[in-house]
Amino acid sequence: MPTTTRSSIPEHVAIIMDGNGRWAKQRGLPRVMGHRRGVEAVRETVRAAGDCGISYLTLFAFSSENWRRPESEVSDLMGLLKAFIRRDLAELHRENVRVRIIGDRQGLKTDIRSLLEEAEQMTVGNTKLTLVIAFNYGSRDEIARATASIARDVAEGRLSADAITPDTISARLDTSGMPDPDLIIRTSGEERLSNFLLWQAAYSEFLFVPEYWPDFDRQRFFSAIEQYATRDRRFGALAEQVAVAGA
Ligand code: FPP
Repeated sequence: MPTTTRSSIPEHVAIIMDGNGRWAKQRGLPRVMGHRRGVEAVRETVRAAGDCGISYLTLFAFSSENWRRPESEVSDLMGLLKAFIRRDLAELHRENVRVRIIGDRQGLKTDIRSLLEEAEQMTVGNTKLTLVIAFNYGSRDEIARATASIARDVAEGRLSADAITPDTISARLDTSGMPDPDLIIRTSGEERLSNFLLWQAAYSEFLFVPEYWPDFDRQRFFSAIEQYATRDRRFGALAEQVAVAGA
């Protein structure tokens, strides 16, 4: 991990896409319309991220807590993800985008699970941008699953408890092999992480923007990247060391 760096283009941007419901309510529309417009914002953001040379874009599409919503809304969200994969997979593949899914797949229906697996398999060799879709994702759940897998290895003698380091844990998370997010954006003015990438966000920069997710677009994405570029990241070191490193 670098100790100091002046940020420029982030390698990994993660987004909590919030405010679809409020966007719809403001217009007297059903919530599902907000989610539908949210998919348009997803498309535009994926293109913008690819265009500015970002390597990883993670989108929080469905949290492990979202099952608490009315059944019809849960079903709308599942349907929108399926439609997105069916309609956009070929273009994503053409654009050299790799798709990865994080979250607990065991809790998903077989049809959606196979679609997600198909998207991952088809795009596994792509190298321009990795689009990470967090679906049925909750950070505490992810950490608990990683811990259980470590505990099994310790119990069965494959791993010594003394050999467990932060890297051991990172390698068991769904995000294994990905860089931690440099920038986490949340739309809609809410300022919290909501169980998103808790471990991975240790040194992330945060940006909370007032727009509802359906209004998020290319311009707003670029503006977020510009704001990120003004941040000094110290990774626990001192500001003086940043100045020396940058001299
Ligand atoms: C938060 O808004 C948004 C969600 C829970 C779902 C986000 C999903 C999409 C944009 C569509 C599917 C995703 C992909 C990747 C195709 P909210 O409903 O919590 O809004 P509110 O706080 O205003 O009610």
